[in-house]
Amino acid sequence: MKEVKVGIIGFGTVGAGVAANILKNGEVIAKRAGVKLTLTRIADLDTTTDRGVTIPQDILTTDAMALINEVDVVVELVGGTTFAKDFILEALKQGKPVVTANKALLAIHGKELFAAAEQSKADIYYEASVAGGIPVIKALREGLAANRINRIYGIMNGTCNYILTRMEREKMDFAPILQDAQDLGYAEAEPSLDVDGFDTAHKAAILASLAYGQWFGMDPIHVEGIRDISLVDLKFADELGYRVKLLAVIKQVDDDVQIRVHPTLVAKDTMLGNIADVFNGVMIDGDTVGETLFYGRGAGRDATASAVVADLVDVALNLKFGSHRRVPAFRIGPQYRHLVKIEEIETRYYIRLQVQDRAGVVAKIANILGDKNISISSFIQREAHDEQSVPLLILTHEAKEKQLFKAIEDLRKVEEISEEVKILRIEDI
Ligand code: HSE
Repeated sequence: MKEVKVGIIGFGTVGAGVAANILKNGEVIAKRAGVKLTLTRIADLDTTTDRGVTIPQDILTTDAMALINEVDVVVELVGGTTFAKDFILEALKQGKPVVTANKALLAIHGKELFAAAEQSKADIYYEASVAGGIPVIKALREGLAANRINRIYGIMNGTCNYILTRMEREKMDFAPILQDAQDLGYAEAEPSLDVDGFDTAHKAAILASLAYGQWFGMDPIHVEGIRDISLVDLKFADELGYRVKLLAVIKQVDDDVQIRVHPTLVAKDTMLGNIADVFNGVMIDGDTVGETLFYGRGAGRDATASAVVADLVDVALNLKFGSHRRVPAFRIGPQYRHLVKIEEIETRYYIRLQVQDRAGVVAKIANILGDKNISISSFIQREAHDEQSVPLLILTHEAKEKQLFKAIEDLRKVEEISEEVKILRIEDI
């Protein structure tokens, strides 16, 4: 049986999960695929900490560059965008395929890395980089190869989904839930990559590039996180039939593409609206297949290892049959689609205003919105009891973002309207 020597660089949580999976399921995988994955070398600066997986001690090394010489495929699990990039480029230079879970590296340096892969004729596989254990990359690259992709919606950050789910269920604000999530180990001590939306944006950059066959990179992606989501908005959203999700929106409108990440109102009676806790969900709408939904664990040792090892099987089969780029990931060439700036999009909006409960205020609001061609689809004002000011909720039909923000500027100038205006986008999925 063809044997493929696997080298892992980075023996952290995921590296240990990959080693454990190969040791546990190696025989089943070999029978299924007809190739044997042999754990040959593992490199890490720390070779002494017990990772809870029993491996032959002599396969551990601190020399990652030497590892690359000794194996058939390199699994990069060090993370970060510096050493990881050097290791991948060196492996590709030697014509060795790479498997990585490193979404930030791909999102930021993908163009250079995929060009290097193209030149070396060695593939980069990266299933674990988006939505952890959910095989969404393979689905998009192979399973949906017959389709033009109309839309992708992704709830792809477990930390944010966990926090939003608990805020909604326990009627608590963001800060104490984040603190609790950190104490429980669900959120990182430094949570900004997750809660400010960048982790989701990295994944969106990768999915968008796969869907549309060109490299968009990170710079033009509009990113907002969940720090400013308040309980009052979750309550109003609930009343209106929605939940707030940190959503990656990737869609083609005519010849343009939108890629954006922001808290979004998603209807409670949709499947995406029901993806809760740490789970991830990705909806892909293809012109031929229609809507498909992928659901599962987006992070964690074993879910991520599942994706890494699946890539290793693909690589092993490529090596066995002498093939590569069976399904090209990206077309590295001239850009042919315009990436729409956030000001240019048209979508529906949730607007929360705090207003003085006086005669004529609603008329002023309606006039300002009407002037900017913004049509109201729903309007809620609670009766004021003792309070001088009351929250006022407006949902709009599709409107131009540029017009919406001009209207908000005008609304803020109205004496009876407080400066604090909350805007959330709505996606009808
Ligand atoms: N930190 C991510 C999450 C997983 O919370 O989903 C890795 O991208």
